[in-house]
Amino acid sequence: MTPLEKERIKFLPKSPAILKHLTKIKLIETKTGEPEQDQAELKKLFPHSYGKAFIAAKGTSSAKDAKPLKVGVVFSGGQASGGHNVISGLFDALRQIHPDSHLIGFLNGPSGIINNQTKPLDEKAIASYRNTGGFDLIGSGRTKIEKSEDLQSSLKTANQLALDGIVIVGGDDSNTNAAVLAEYFLANKCCTKVVGVPKTIDGDLRSEDVEITFGFDTACKIYSELISNLQRDALSAKKYYHFIKLMGRSASHIALECALRTHPNFVLIGEEIQKQNLSLADIVNKLADIIEKRAAMGKNFGVFLIPEGLIEFIPELNELINELNHQLANIDLAKLATFDEQKKQLLNVISTKGQKTYNSLPEDIQKQLILERDPHGNIPVSLIETEKLLSLSVQENLKKRSAFKGKFNPLHHFFGYEGRCGFPSDFDATYCYNLGKVAALLLFNGVTGYMSCVNHLTAPVEKWEVLGIPLVALMNMEVRKGKNKPVIKKTLVNLKGKPFQVLHTSREKWANKDDYQFCGPIQFYGNENLVEGRPLILNN
Ligand code: FBP
Repeated sequence: MTPLEKERIKFLPKSPAILKHLTKIKLIETKTGEPEQDQAELKKLFPHSYGKAFIAAKGTSSAKDAKPLKVGVVFSGGQASGGHNVISGLFDALRQIHPDSHLIGFLNGPSGIINNQTKPLDEKAIASYRNTGGFDLIGSGRTKIEKSEDLQSSLKTANQLALDGIVIVGGDDSNTNAAVLAEYFLANKCCTKVVGVPKTIDGDLRSEDVEITFGFDTACKIYSELISNLQRDALSAKKYYHFIKLMGRSASHIALECALRTHPNFVLIGEEIQKQNLSLADIVNKLADIIEKRAAMGKNFGVFLIPEGLIEFIPELNELINELNHQLANIDLAKLATFDEQKKQLLNVISTKGQKTYNSLPEDIQKQLILERDPHGNIPVSLIETEKLLSLSVQENLKKRSAFKGKFNPLHHFFGYEGRCGFPSDFDATYCYNLGKVAALLLFNGVTGYMSCVNHLTAPVEKWEVLGIPLVALMNMEVRKGKNKPVIKKTLVNLKGKPFQVLHTSREKWANKDDYQFCGPIQFYGNENLVEGRPLILNN
């Protein structure tokens, strides 16, 4: 173990006061859990789970009888710092509820449930993973539990293991799995309860109650350190434009948070581009304007942030991607040997407008746009080099500007995977530990089809509040792989919210004045202002 690992495993996360005696907590229903849209379809698809109320932990009662609980936990989807603390919080809480409780881990994601591949999680197995990043204790995966044989196998696993509960730690697609499984178990009179935990660095599984997903804070702090370092480099060498793509799938929450922390010369926000209906050419023009203006001030350097999901918000590319998604669900490109053959086949079946947009893109981007979709039907935006597409297009644009007398030397970066497994920030370590505890609390109370939730996150930890959110209330219907499917709705950046407005009013200054902020690495020890910082987008 490194010196930091040795120190971090000793860290004891604080807990909200309400979570002190888990068997004595009173859970009350607070409001009804109707989804915002597609109610009729969702009611039909989730007859046993639909319409459940939100629940909150409020006060205490006399201790309820506790028997040992047997619970399985699974990581689902992309890594996010703090996952191991969900497990340690869950484990400690189950043991507090009853010392003979058992926790087991499903290996390598939801396929571990389907195939009944498990590992016992006792104190010894967990000890050296407390407060560490990554999901390597049990692994993760993206299998979608959807086909009837997968549901049947999952039911068989739950029965064979005699599980009281399964905790699914995941993002929107994985919590969709949790909702589907909970419904299937209810329909089949299986006693195993299913609870989800809100994970994803993307921060897009948010609602009035789910203030943020875990992993977001750590990822943004890691990216912000790297962005700061490049800003300092740019300011020192004065010769490069850094085009930095940031992970985060569709929504631009990560780009927004990192921009608020670092003050780059420009940050593109996908949701704003969509609202303003800006084409790729408009965006390129905007960046070229900034570069030209800076060159006139003698500055031939700068830093631009690009959310990885940008292309899905540019109207003509969004239309193209939707068409491609639809077609790729029906044709098997893998059986064609060359890219030229694949392209020919595709262009035959997409619209003339789609063909024109596709042909206007560099060949690398054309290839990346038809990469295989993940099991949930998502296009792999992390593999599409939007940063290069933009810088190449900016270069072409600048060549046509007679007034541009400066130099343009672009460098490209993608900050993605390096932010998902760092040591969790103090906030993520504490938040996750308590999300795990709340999952245990919900299972102890026999709740199923709910998400573990802790909120009031800008308050001191002792005052954080504890909720259970009915998963179906967070769902809507979306087209995935060419079919209408129930999925948890992604939450995009709110352009009227305070975080975006702060960005909006600062942009002009950041573009011209180099107001770069130097964040430095995540701090684990010392001054609490440095250690306990929360995500800035919580201040809305
Ligand atoms: P989740 O939604 O499962 O948390 O995954 C998020 C994410 O990190 C995205 O930001 C990114 O686009 C994607 O995973 C990358 O997927 P993969 O790990 O399969 O390459």
